[in-house]
Amino acid sequence: MSIIDESVLSLSEDEKQQFYLKYGRELVEEKAKEKGRKLTACVNTFGCQMNARDSEKLRGMLIEMGFQETESEEADLVLYNTCTIRENANTRVYGRLGYLHNLKKKNPDMFIALCGCMMQEKEVVEKIRKSFSFVDLVFGTHNLFCFPELFCTAFTSKRIVIDTEERNGLIVENLPNKRKFDFKSGINITYGCNNFCSYCIVPYVRGREKDREPEDIINEIKGMVADGVVEIMLLGQNVNSYGKTLKNPISFAELLRRVDEIEGLKRIRFMTPHPKDFTDELIEVIRDSKKVCHHVHLPLQSGSSKILEDMNRRYTKEKYLQLAAKIRKEIPDVALTTDIIVGFPGETEDDFLETVDVVRQVKYDSAFTFIYSKRTGTKAARMENQIPPEVSKDRFDRLLAEVQKYAREQCSKYEGREAEVLVESLNEQDPSLVTGRLDNNSVVHFPGCESMIGTIVKVRLNEAKGFYYLGEMVDQ
Ligand code: 5AD
Ligand code: SF4
Repeated sequence: MSIIDESVLSLSEDEKQQFYLKYGRELVEEKAKEKGRKLTACVNTFGCQMNARDSEKLRGMLIEMGFQETESEEADLVLYNTCTIRENANTRVYGRLGYLHNLKKKNPDMFIALCGCMMQEKEVVEKIRKSFSFVDLVFGTHNLFCFPELFCTAFTSKRIVIDTEERNGLIVENLPNKRKFDFKSGINITYGCNNFCSYCIVPYVRGREKDREPEDIINEIKGMVADGVVEIMLLGQNVNSYGKTLKNPISFAELLRRVDEIEGLKRIRFMTPHPKDFTDELIEVIRDSKKVCHHVHLPLQSGSSKILEDMNRRYTKEKYLQLAAKIRKEIPDVALTTDIIVGFPGETEDDFLETVDVVRQVKYDSAFTFIYSKRTGTKAARMENQIPPEVSKDRFDRLLAEVQKYAREQCSKYEGREAEVLVESLNEQDPSLVTGRLDNNSVVHFPGCESMIGTIVKVRLNEAKGFYYLGEMVDQ
């Protein structure tokens, strides 16, 4: 088989990548023979669940091409799936590249590949070309599905291969993937984002919103369930705007209803909804379904209506509070969690206190809090009144203390009750315990054994310990 085989040109994108998977396998086998051992590959993931899911696909392709997976970066192939949501995500990758360079000096055959959101930034690619020329392959979020082709090209050439071009919103189905967990999985329903929140780089690096066909989603989930998956998480940057770009549009609530009907599936989660698109219909589906978990992650970002407007979030403090109250009223046992940014340009002490006020009113079960990070190319990066780091840091600390106070309070709510827990792993510190999650996403540790992983059991929540429960199994 030759890499420039004419017949490849007439294939569909799907078939083309299948062809390169086979070709890659030949290349890897040849090299393995030369070395007298299997080649190893290490995929390191930074960032969110979307990246985690993408990495499962990349690992699937690598295994299909004959690599043996390893967690050590002293491998024949190292692939970093990068994130660029905040500046420190980029800094971390540059730091680690120095370390990889040292490994490559010891093993010149080592293949280093970089992909993910950070690679969609022009300045990053330039910097890698100039200062990290030992890298073999760079590809972006739009090119994940051509990884077999890109790998073959880079593996057989001596030069760095770079591909970050968008491919007209093409979504390629049916690529191999290797799930991290046997019993739960993420599943993409939309890619990209159309919202352009003024601080956020995602719309620039992940492109416009593209929805998968509901039939493709349902079939993939059915396949996963047949494979032993009991919990799925529907993934997208803005899941509840799902369906608008389809030829036959459907709502996210309708998709949830259809997923709910899949036999054998026990739990459905979704991440991330946007408050502006949270319909009454969606609240009803979550309330009425037995499978959709009673956990809603509702990113607030700021409690000040002025800052929300500058952030282009398209809701006010009052609208958000009304929505949170409605969700709590309709689904009384719901867990509400959120994302909050402090130090957005122009944020005054009063604006910040509005955010604290929302935290006090909503009483989140948990919250991810971030210091605003300036991302080149976004509207907020060009705003005046950037906040001095010491002011942001002070607000961050005060906010965190507030958030933790309510999180502790919320996590003691179910002390003494019995609840169903999906067992996820052996406890990391004490192997006589297992660790699982309630429907509302709270963590529970209790005595158990490895064979329970992936099953749902009833547990009495004996003691609330701040951010988790200690419990014991009760008769089923
Ligand atoms: N600075 C700080 N936090 C950010 N987020 C997104 N962009 C930025 C930024 N420039 C946060 C938001 C989002 C979460 C995934 O990351 O809170 O919801
Ligand atoms: Fe970024 Fe806003 Fe899109 Fe979320 S909804 S990915 S914060 S632009």
